[in-house]
Amino acid sequence: MGKINDLDMSKWKELTDVWTDSLWIIPQRDNSGAHDGHYHGNFVPQIPHQLLMRYTKAGDFVLDPFAGSGTTLIEAQRMGRNSIGIELQPSVAAEAINRIHSESKDGIVADTFVDDSRVFDTRRILDTYKIDNVQFIIYHPPYWDIIKFSEDENDLSNSETLNEFIDNFRQVVRNTSAILEKGRYCAVVIGDKYANSQLVPLGFHCMQAMQQEGLTLKATIVKNFEETKGKANQKALWRQRALQNGLYLFKHEYIFVFKKEK
Ligand SMILES: C[S@@+](CC[C@H](N)C(=O)[O-])C[C@H]1O[C@@H](n2cnc3c(N)ncnc32)[C@H](O)[C@@H]1O
Repeated sequence: MGKINDLDMSKWKELTDVWTDSLWIIPQRDNSGAHDGHYHGNFVPQIPHQLLMRYTKAGDFVLDPFAGSGTTLIEAQRMGRNSIGIELQPSVAAEAINRIHSESKDGIVADTFVDDSRVFDTRRILDTYKIDNVQFIIYHPPYWDIIKFSEDENDLSNSETLNEFIDNFRQVVRNTSAILEKGRYCAVVIGDKYANSQLVPLGFHCMQAMQQEGLTLKATIVKNFEETKGKANQKALWRQRALQNGLYLFKHEYIFVFKKEK
C-alpha cells in the first residue's frame, strides 16, 4: 500500500497525539489564530486535524464541499496540505477566505469556490490547480434542517423531506468523490435529530448513502457534542422535553470514515 500520511511508523510509540480510539472527547475547541468559532454550525478544528494527520501527506489536496467558515482549510494550510472549499453562500465563503488567508503559507493553496456542491463542475478544481484528483474529502453537511443556513433552495438545510435531504447529500458525494484518488479516504461528520418525538437517524442514513455510492466504511467514531449556541439558553426546556417524552438529549455526533477502493 502506498503511504497515505506522513506518520513515521518506526516511531509509532511516540505518536501519542494521533488518536486511534473510536470515542473522541474534545473538552475545548481550538480557537487559536484564524479559528474563531463564530459560525453557527461549524465543527471543532480538532476533527480535521486528526483526520488530516491519519489520511493525508504534506502537499496533498483536501476538498471540503460544505466549507462554511473554513475550519478544514485553516487546519489543512497549517499542516502544509492544499485545500479547496465549496460553499453555497457567497458572503460566508468571502468571510472565510479572508480569515484563512490571514495565516497563509507560501506555496500552499487554500481556495474556495462559491457553488452548489451537488452540481459544481469539479474539473474547475483539477484544471485550476493542474491536478488529476484530490487525496481526501471531508463532508460536514447541514444536519438536515436543525440549522437553516440560508434561504437558498439549493441549501441542503432547506430540503423538504428526509428522503430529499439524503438524496441531495448523495448527489454531493457522487459529484465530488468522483475526483477522489483511488485508495484514498473521505469522512462525513453528522449528527442525528428529533422530530415529532421520534429520533431521525441522519447519521446512519448518510453512512448508508455513502456506502451505496461505492465507498467502503472503515471507521465509526463517536464524538462528544456540547450545547450549540442556540440550545444553551433552552437547556431546562430540552431536559423537561426529554423526561416527558422518553428521549435522551444528544451529547454526541458521528464521524464515519470511508475508503475509495482501487
Ligand atoms: C455544517 S456547515 C459546515 C461548517 C464547517 N465545517 C465549518 O467548520 O465552518 C454546512 C455548510 O454547508 C453549506 N451548504 C448547504 N448546502 C450546500 C450546497 N448545496 N452546496 C454547498 N454548500 C452548501 C451551508 O451554507 C453551510 O455553510
